Amino acid sequence: MKMKKLLSIAATGVLSLGLLAACSSSSDNTSSNGGNEGSDTDSEKAVSLRLAHNQPEDHPIHTSLMEFSKLSEENSDGNVKIEVYPNGQLGQERDVIELVKSGTLDMAKVSAGALEAFDENFTIFSLPYVFQSQEHYYNVMDNSEVVKEIFEGTRDDGFVGIGWYDSGQRSIYTVDKKVESPADMSGLKIRVQESPTSISMIEAMGGAPTPMSFGEVYTSLQQGVLDGAENNETALTNNKHGEVSKAYTYTEHQYVPDVLIISTKVLDSLSEDQMKAIQDAATASSESHKDVWAKAVEESITASEEMGVTFYTIDKQAFIDAAAPLHEQYKAKSEDNQKFFDDFQSYIK
Ligand code: GCU
Repeated sequence: MKMKKLLSIAATGVLSLGLLAACSSSSDNTSSNGGNEGSDTDSEKAVSLRLAHNQPEDHPIHTSLMEFSKLSEENSDGNVKIEVYPNGQLGQERDVIELVKSGTLDMAKVSAGALEAFDENFTIFSLPYVFQSQEHYYNVMDNSEVVKEIFEGTRDDGFVGIGWYDSGQRSIYTVDKKVESPADMSGLKIRVQESPTSISMIEAMGGAPTPMSFGEVYTSLQQGVLDGAENNETALTNNKHGEVSKAYTYTEHQYVPDVLIISTKVLDSLSEDQMKAIQDAATASSESHKDVWAKAVEESITASEEMGVTFYTIDKQAFIDAAAPLHEQYKAKSEDNQKFFDDFQSYIK
């Protein structure tokens, strides 16, 4: 079944043959640890894990994942090696989540937005304006038991979230049209993540949502398939969207974190020491990433302006009002949702 899935992905051209080999050696490696069930002896046995993500090597998340890899190795005295595969080489976010779920790939960094399609509990991270400020966002992500519950909640589905990385605030940008109010969004085809909440959000804000994987956005903007997209500022520079989108409006509608996921199969095969080394590395690199991120955003703004992008600061209230019904719908859906929402709100200072 696992192989069938992998082959079907390969057949669609997402994975190259070389990477198929990389993936299968990963599962060999996983199964070679599999029998030890976390006994003391296997803490001496080195493991080599593969971690995939979709950003280029000059992107701040790559820097922080390399730091995570380095710290994992240091913390474990060389017993945990993590090889980072950037650039979506192993697939787009949906694909790598599938691979991690099946144990074919060990780890991945994906957006919480992409995880929503795999587990509804991730919805809350994409609710527009659920975080009131960066301080609120950091407080929730670093301290909330609910976040831990959501990250752990997918264990039986094949993966667990072991850390998060700041991916900034998301705002609307278009090829050329300045968007000041929801009325300006009318008829605009705006790319969103493959997240039901983000689809509803753009609808509520008056636009025409177009879900697609991140890797397709540049060409779609260039060819006029899209009128715009929404993301943090690094999309303009590191992903070059600023070459084909010149108007960035600070709607600041979401803070959607990046999440570090690990396959349950791998998790069950690691010793406690190895797991602790990885967990500590995830926490430390998440913390240092905050500065890496802030610096990268500043640089992106300057570089985007040099590319001819204009940044517009607006009164966001009309967007906040337009998105408000999504909060009510979310809370009314289940008791868990209400609990998650209240928990998040309790971190507003
Ligand atoms: C952010 C996020 C990525 C994600 C992208 C997207 O850049 O960090 O992980 O793929 O948004 O919009 O799909």
